[in-house]
Amino acid sequence: MTQAAEANPYAPQVARLSRVIDETPTIKTFCFDLEQPMEFRAGQFVQLGVPGLGEAPFTPSSSPLEPGHLEVTVLRTGGVTERLHRMGEGDVCTLRGPYGKGYPVEKLEGKDVVVVGGGVGLAPLRALIHVLLSMTDRLNKVVIKNGARESAELLFRRQYDEWAAHDKVSFEMTIDAPEPGWAGHVGVVTTVLEDLPNEVNVPNSYAFSCGPEIMLRFVTFALLEKGFQPEQIYLSMNRRMSCGIGKCGRCNIGPYYLCKDGPDMCYAQIKDYPNVF
Ligand SMILES: Cc1cc2nc3c(=O)[nH]c(=O)nc-3n(C[C@H](O)[C@H](O)[C@H](O)COP(=O)(O)OP(=O)(O)OC[C@H]3O[C@@H](n4cnc5c(N)ncnc54)[C@H](O)[C@@H]3O)c2cc1C
Ligand code: FES
Repeated sequence: MTQAAEANPYAPQVARLSRVIDETPTIKTFCFDLEQPMEFRAGQFVQLGVPGLGEAPFTPSSSPLEPGHLEVTVLRTGGVTERLHRMGEGDVCTLRGPYGKGYPVEKLEGKDVVVVGGGVGLAPLRALIHVLLSMTDRLNKVVIKNGARESAELLFRRQYDEWAAHDKVSFEMTIDAPEPGWAGHVGVVTTVLEDLPNEVNVPNSYAFSCGPEIMLRFVTFALLEKGFQPEQIYLSMNRRMSCGIGKCGRCNIGPYYLCKDGPDMCYAQIKDYPNVF
């Protein structure tokens, strides 16, 4: 956090858009070259503000190893995101954060790491993928699975070859329903988890998943069925938030505030609370 943000946790910095990338018909990536670099851990989130309208939480999709350049990848859904999608290079936003804990990357040395994304859920996971690719010498294996409703909605397609080119990385994508011209896998993302016990050493693995809650639920059940323990499963619980700093009580699961204790939660911590999924 910057000094100003430490003094006042709501204090944003002004950030000018340096580029906007059209990713899919509904998703764009917004790039900022920051005057005050923002140090963050993969999985921590920021509050991005549109002046005069409001702010919303997003987990950066860019590399934490480049804190001067921040990217957020945004699905168009309502007020703030609609307006953001109409903004372009040179337009001004506000940014505050980072908030939350981030992924427990320090646990991953020597492990097999499974990353499961659905739709725009691959955006927060891309920051993790950047970090994993920078430390493949200390990992055993990285298995990335990504699903989308249709091929046009597959996020970051321009990067799949680059990811899969790494020695220890495998990448598989799927779309929900058949399409003319699509020769790849068809089925919801859990269908590409079927062979996981042959792809990774399950007892030596961690899994990270981000996507719609219904997907998180079925991915969790699929992982448990494949032999993963709750302690080995991390879920990005990107629910509606307000303050982002553990003050308003909007985002709790049991005793945890997702904004402060998450948003990426170990399933073992939350599994017994009624409002997990
Ligand atoms: C920690 C965190 C990280 C996030 N990271 C990303 C990201 O990287 N990319 C991205 O596209 N989105 C992300 N989101 C979701 C994003 O914050 C919401 O889509 C955004 O707040 C919607 O704002 P809006 O004003 O456009 O929509 P609103 O007008 O507020 O709402 C429009 C519709 O979206 C629904 N909605 C709003 N917020 C959420 C939510 N959190 N989960 C599910 N449905 C919601 C509303 O119920 C409503 O139906 C993240 C959310 C959290 C909490
Ligand atoms: S968003 Fe306010 S406590 Fe979490």
